[in-house]
Amino acid sequence: MSSGGTSTGGAAGSSGSAAAGRPPSDAGAGGVPPIGPGGAPNGGNPAVAGAAGAGGTPTAELPPAGGNGSLKDKFQNYFPIGAAVDANGPTTHGELLSRHFDSVTPENEMKFASLQPTEGQFTYGPADRIVQYASQNGMKVRGHALVWHSQNPDWLWQGPGGGTVSKQTLLARMKAHIDAVAKHFRGKVYCWDVVNEAVMNDGHLRGPDEPDGQKSRWLELIGEEYIAEAFRYAHEADPDAKLFYNDFYNYIPDKQQAIYELMKKLLEAGVPVHGVGLQAHLNIEPSTDPMNQAYHQHVEKLEKAIQLYSSLGLEVQITELDLSLYIPGVMYTEDTFYTAATFTAELKARQAARYRAFFEMFRRHHRELTGVTLWGIADDNTWLSEFASMRKDFPLLFDDRHMTKPAYDAVMDW
Ligand code: XIL
Repeated sequence: MSSGGTSTGGAAGSSGSAAAGRPPSDAGAGGVPPIGPGGAPNGGNPAVAGAAGAGGTPTAELPPAGGNGSLKDKFQNYFPIGAAVDANGPTTHGELLSRHFDSVTPENEMKFASLQPTEGQFTYGPADRIVQYASQNGMKVRGHALVWHSQNPDWLWQGPGGGTVSKQTLLARMKAHIDAVAKHFRGKVYCWDVVNEAVMNDGHLRGPDEPDGQKSRWLELIGEEYIAEAFRYAHEADPDAKLFYNDFYNYIPDKQQAIYELMKKLLEAGVPVHGVGLQAHLNIEPSTDPMNQAYHQHVEKLEKAIQLYSSLGLEVQITELDLSLYIPGVMYTEDTFYTAATFTAELKARQAARYRAFFEMFRRHHRELTGVTLWGIADDNTWLSEFASMRKDFPLLFDDRHMTKPAYDAVMDW
C-alpha cells in the first residue's frame, strides 16, 4: 500500500546549528501578518485562544523543564510526547514506550483497511490491544486516520451492483465507518485525524488527477464536501473527541496557506474541526533545489504554519515527527545507503542539531502545541527503512539497540 505521498520531505534548519542560536521567540518566524478574523472561536480550545496569533511565547516565560529521566518527564510542562506504535510495539519496545512516552498513535491499526476490510465486518483486535496497553500505562491515544486516500479496502469504491459506487452510497459508507469506529473507541481515543492528506503541494485539493498512489477517490466521487461531512460525522459519533485535519509538508508556503484557508472555511461554516496535525517528516538538510518540496523545510517555515493555524483558534500538534538522513532530491544508490558504519559521529551530531532546532521552536510554541508525536520509537522499526525505499534509515531518538542517540541528548539538553 502506498502511504500517499510522504516520500519524505526535505529538511532543513536554517537555524541549523541551533544549539547556540536561539532566536528571539516572538520574531522567530519572521512575524505572521494578521490574517483573517483571528481567533475564530471553535469552542474546543480555550487554552489556545489566548496564544492565538501571538507568534510564540517569550522565552523568559517558558515553563520549567521537568526531570531529566525521560522525554515525558522533561516535557511535562510543555506537551505530551507521543510515539507511533504497531501492534507489537508494547512487546518489542515496551520499556522505551512506558518510560518515555505519554501518548501513542497506532501506526496502521486504525486505518480504514485495517478496521473494515470487508463491508460491515470490523476487526478491532490489534487496535484494541494498543488501546488497552495505553490505558494500563496511563497514556493517551491519538486515533489515525478516519478518511484518507490510502490504505482503503477495494470494496469501498465498488457499487453494490458492480461498477463504481455512487456519491450517496460512498457518503453513507463513510458515515457508517466513522460512526462505528468513533463510537467503538469513544472515551479511549482522545483525538482523531479525521481527514488525512487532502491538500497537494501547490494547494489544490488531492483528486483523481494525481500520479498513481496519490489519487483521492473521496474527492473524485463525493467532491469537496467529503471533508466537512467527515468532521460532522465524527463529531456526532464522539462529541468529546478533538478532531484534527492532518497533513505533511506544512512548511511549503502554498500548501500551508491552502490548509489555512480550508480550515478557515470549515470553521466559518460551523464544521467541528479542532486542530491541525503537522506530520513533520523531516530530513537532515533542506533541498537546495527551489522546485523540491524540501527547499522550504526550514524551522521558521514550519513555525509559521503553527502560528497561522493557531491564529484561527485551532490546536496544533506535531503528529509524525522523524528526521531522515537522506536529502530529498539527491539520488542515492545502494552503495550510498546509510549503514551503522556510515552513520558517523559527524552525521549523528548534524541530526542532533537539527532535532534540537525544531524542538526549541516547538517549546516556544508550547501554548499552541498540544502534542508532539514521533513516528516510531527506535531506529530498528521505522517506516522509512521498511517502506518505499528499502534503504536503511536512522530517523528517531533511540538507536537499533534502543539506546539513546545524540539526537535524544540534544532534545533533552535545556
Ligand atoms: C505509514 C506507516 O508508517 C507504514 O507502516 C505504512 O506502510 C504506510 O503508512 N503519513 C501518514 C501515515 O499519515 O499514516 C503513514 O504511515 C506515513 C505518512
